[in-house]
Amino acid sequence: MSAQRQETVKRISAPDIAARKGGVPIVCLTAYTAPVAEILDEHCDLLLVGDSVGMVVHGLPNTVGVTLEMMILHGQAVMRGSKRAMVVVDMPFGSYEGSREAAYANAVRILKETGAQAVKVEAGVEVAENIAYLTQRGVPVMGHVGLRPQAVLVDGGFKAKGKTAGEHDRILADAHATAQAGVFSIVVEGVAEGLAQEITALVPVPTVGIGASAGCDGQVLVTDDMLGLFDWTPKFVRRYADLRGEIGRAVGEYAADVRARRFPGPAEIYFAKAG
Ligand code: KIV
Repeated sequence: MSAQRQETVKRISAPDIAARKGGVPIVCLTAYTAPVAEILDEHCDLLLVGDSVGMVVHGLPNTVGVTLEMMILHGQAVMRGSKRAMVVVDMPFGSYEGSREAAYANAVRILKETGAQAVKVEAGVEVAENIAYLTQRGVPVMGHVGLRPQAVLVDGGFKAKGKTAGEHDRILADAHATAQAGVFSIVVEGVAEGLAQEITALVPVPTVGIGASAGCDGQVLVTDDMLGLFDWTPKFVRRYADLRGEIGRAVGEYAADVRARRFPGPAEIYFAKAG
C-alpha cells in the first residue's frame, strides 16, 4: 500500500455498519495478528479481535481465562495491520458484567490503548444496563447473543441454543434488550435458522451470524477455522483452504532439505566480496 493511500483511506465506522441493515451482507472475520489483519483488510468490512484468541492462539480450553491485557495486545496488532476495515475488540469475561463504572473504564482502556472503533460484549437482559451506560457515553458496542462462549462453565460446553421454547424466548429477550441498550450491531451465534431470522426481523441493527444461517445481515467465522488450520471444525464452518495440510507439507519438505543438506543452497547464502 502506498504512503499516499495510507493517509487517505477512511476506516469503516460503527454508523457505516449500522446502516447496512437489510443491505449487502456484512463480511466479518476474526483477526489476532498484524500480518493476518493486513491480508483480511481489503476483503472484510469488520475485523473482530475475538476472545477466541485465547483458544486459537494461546491454546486455552475456553475463553474464560482471557485477560484485558491479551485483548489490548492483539487489538493493537490488528490495528497496525489494517487500514480500512472496522476493528472491534472483545471485552473478556469479567471485564463488563459487574459494575457499569468498571465496564466503562475497561471499554475506554481498550479503545484508547488499541485505537479500535468498538468493543463487543456477550450481551443479554442482565448486562443491558451496563451496555446502555457505555453507549450513552461514547463507546460503540457490538452485542453477542445466542451461544455465548463465556458462559461455558455454566452451560457445561459449547452447545447450540434456542432449542427449547424457554431458551428461544430468552434469546429473543436478550436480543431486544441489547438493541434497546444502543448497540450498533449484534453477533448471533449457534441458533437455528428460524430463530436467527426472528432476531434479525426484531432488532433495528444488523445481525452478524456465526452458526446461525444466512438469515442474518452478515456473517463472521474464526479465520483459522475457515482456513483449515485445525484438524476439527464445527459443522457450521466451511473450510476454504487446507492450511494445516499445506503447512505440514512445507515444513516436512524443509526438514528433509535440512537433513539432506539441500538447504540452504547457493541462492540462500551470503558471499564475501572479492578482494
Ligand atoms: O471470540 C470470537 O471469535 C467471537 C466470534 C466467533 C463471534 O466472538
